[in-house]
Amino acid sequence: MSDFLAERRAVIDACLAMNRLGINQGSSGNLSLRVEDGFLVTPTSLPYDETTPEDIVAMGFDGTYRGARRPSSEWRIHRDILRARPDVEVVLHAHPTFATALAVHGRGIPSFHYMVALAGGDSIRCAPYATFGTQELSDHALAALDGRLACLLANHGMIVLGRTVKAALALAVEVETLARQYLYAQQLGEPVILPPDEIARVAERMRRMKYGQPLDDGDGPEDTARPRSA
Ligand code: 13P
Repeated sequence: MSDFLAERRAVIDACLAMNRLGINQGSSGNLSLRVEDGFLVTPTSLPYDETTPEDIVAMGFDGTYRGARRPSSEWRIHRDILRARPDVEVVLHAHPTFATALAVHGRGIPSFHYMVALAGGDSIRCAPYATFGTQELSDHALAALDGRLACLLANHGMIVLGRTVKAALALAVEVETLARQYLYAQQLGEPVILPPDEIARVAERMRRMKYGQPLDDGDGPEDTARPRSA
């Protein structure tokens, strides 16, 4: 498959996966992938199961685009994040039920569970509300993502960043799971919040163990199991 087809197919497959995994519905949400001369982004308002590789929009960082379809209304979010974050190749935006339930209260996710560290800090922030598709919303999102790989958007949904499509999808499912757990936990009152120094310890351990990466390269910390030498 040519790069043209493979990259566009990867964008469509990721969007279909978002809906299948229950982290998005309908034509809500959007996704972008960095390419050599800019980024690919989903077209606005087109159901993912009707989207073909030719429908995916190629954009430059100057905000111009090529193709018959108009880019996602949130193209500024994708452009601004990919421009500001060289550590990121994929930007995923979705409207998952539990994360959005928190976001409509302007609430992020505190460190009630150690897995919050997967998103890069001791909380998952909620960006203030601004109208969809505006530069103001993009500015809020970029600030909320400072040093992080995920944030919520007040009265709107979630953004997750990744080095790969697979990593972004996995983190999006994790953030939605954390939101669900946090909402359930609150049925018994505010849960115990782990202190910042414990989250820093967790983050360091995740980094050293390459936590979330299933292949064992024998490069973990001293106290993990090591592969038996032949
Ligand atoms: P688009 O169809 O324009 O990408 O809009 C979906 C959305 O979720 C806006 O925030």
